[in-house]
Amino acid sequence: MADYKSFIQQVKQANDIVDVVGSYIELRPRGTNHMARCPFHGEKTPSFNVNRNMQIFKCFGCGESGDVITFVEKIESCSTWEAVEILAKRANIPMPETPSQREDKQFAARKKQKDLHLEICRETAVFYFKAYRSEKGKKARDYFEGRGFSADTAKKFGIGYSPDSYSLPNYLLGKGFSEEECLKAGVIQKSKNGRLIDALGRRLIVPIFNMQGKVIAFGGRALEEQDLNFGKYKNTSDTPLFTKKNNLFALNIAKEQKQQSALKHLVVVEGYMDVIAMYQAGFKTTVASMGTSLTAEQARWLSRLTDTVYICYDGDSAGQKATVRGLDILDEAGLEVRVMSVPNNQDPDEYIKAHGRDAFEKLIEQAMPLPDYKIQLLDNSFDITSSDPAVRNNAMPKYVKGAIIMLRQLDENRQRHYISVLSAKTGYSTDYFMRKIAEKGSDSQTDEPTPMDNAMSPETKAKFFVASCLLHGQDYASLDEKPRCDTLFLSNLYNYLFDCKQKGEQPTVDMLYTICPNATQEEYDQIIDVDFSPKRYSKNAQYFAECKRVILVEELQKEKNKLLAQMKKDPTNVELLHKLAEISAKITSI
Ligand code: UTP
Ligand code: MN
Repeated sequence: MADYKSFIQQVKQANDIVDVVGSYIELRPRGTNHMARCPFHGEKTPSFNVNRNMQIFKCFGCGESGDVITFVEKIESCSTWEAVEILAKRANIPMPETPSQREDKQFAARKKQKDLHLEICRETAVFYFKAYRSEKGKKARDYFEGRGFSADTAKKFGIGYSPDSYSLPNYLLGKGFSEEECLKAGVIQKSKNGRLIDALGRRLIVPIFNMQGKVIAFGGRALEEQDLNFGKYKNTSDTPLFTKKNNLFALNIAKEQKQQSALKHLVVVEGYMDVIAMYQAGFKTTVASMGTSLTAEQARWLSRLTDTVYICYDGDSAGQKATVRGLDILDEAGLEVRVMSVPNNQDPDEYIKAHGRDAFEKLIEQAMPLPDYKIQLLDNSFDITSSDPAVRNNAMPKYVKGAIIMLRQLDENRQRHYISVLSAKTGYSTDYFMRKIAEKGSDSQTDEPTPMDNAMSPETKAKFFVASCLLHGQDYASLDEKPRCDTLFLSNLYNYLFDCKQKGEQPTVDMLYTICPNATQEEYDQIIDVDFSPKRYSKNAQYFAECKRVILVEELQKEKNKLLAQMKKDPTNVELLHKLAEISAKITSI
């Protein structure tokens, strides 16, 4: 690992991030930063920021951040190692022979594992693809074509068929893959009696591709009555390559469209068949959330491709609480969200079949901005225009309360507009709305210098802040002992910080992306969004001291709990008793 890290460091030092980014997109100097229009999400005003001192970039529009390697990875849509290769070449640094010859065995092993996993998925897709086009596949073909899909469409999406439970396992083992690897890849399961079976036996198969166009999982639609009882659709179980809630179906196709020209928008639907039907009707920039509520990870995928998303969910399911939360997540990620409604509870597939593509185009045009959609939900829930005054009086306070929650989520501009809309609707004054919005607003504005997530425990918050100060080399920041961390992100980061400390080296911010690859946007943000400008110096120093105390207390508390547990077993042990008293005194003294 040490060699790998120093090689990466060497490559980075030879590739100034401003030069590298500048070779891809036009950068304008602004203060100590360079600004540009973000290449990862469409935007009109530049919010993409490259910082030479820290050697990192961050887009304030889509939230994306990273170092020079991450940048190349994203702009070239390639793997980390490929990005390193590009940069090494650029700086004339010879690459270590091959991953397996490098000292970093762990890295090589992980890459090998991933390649093998991808290979199993690819072979599985080939198997299904052939089965669909074989004699046995008639049933699936009749079904798919019976739904109005062409053979071209089937080919484009790589549609397949699983003829039975046992053919796939035999095929894969025959190809030389081990039982264990096939199980890990999620395409095969063990039945109760210990036999290997196809997880999606007898189903029509829809392969799921990643952004790079590699198969990572499958969806299977039941064709037989007996299977329908176990779910109309089944997915490959969650694996290291695929988790349903973090992926979107047809990202590969959306990306392919984007490479032809920037995407004005994307449509997000619920189901596989909706994406396929829309594609066939000419709406080629559609992805599916596969029936779950939207997550921050999915928002990231979307904002890499576009800045406007149209949500087209079945009937009233967009109105369900979980779904509205999903829409807020997209809004928070900086995406412009518009909500479509399809009449008569139809899904896009059914609607296009019944009314044609032009009618569907109209639905897209009629989509509502998110706030308008939420007002519509309020209108439907609380009847403030009822002719019965009792009903009206009961509904009004609830309506207004809902309106205030909605208003608080908006930026000032939109707030102004919707306050006047809601004031006209409810008869409450604009002043009243403004006062109510501010009430909550003021108590949520604490003096914390970072955009901390409120769901985080104080100890975790403290560990993030302390790590950030250490990483940014703040002179007041020191910590004697590595704290115990329960996330991989924090424990990797603290390992790095203490490693540097031991060697007497200064840690650098850009290494964050090497030390903690594939972390969430939120995790990175907790570290890089701290404001270390001189005007915050004393506040930060003070907050650092507080956080350090929180961490120390937690450590001591853990030790104390351990002692207490020992004492239970050995209540007369004097030494334990002394230790306990010592720790308790320490805790009170901090
Ligand atoms: P729908 O039930 O709306 O499916 O679920 P659909 O796409 O309209 O299916 P058809 O038209 O009857 O074939 C929407 C999506 O939710 C997920 C799937 O991703 C599906 O496409 N889903 C649904 C499941 O994962 N499991 C289920 O049992 C049902
Ligand atoms: Mn459907």
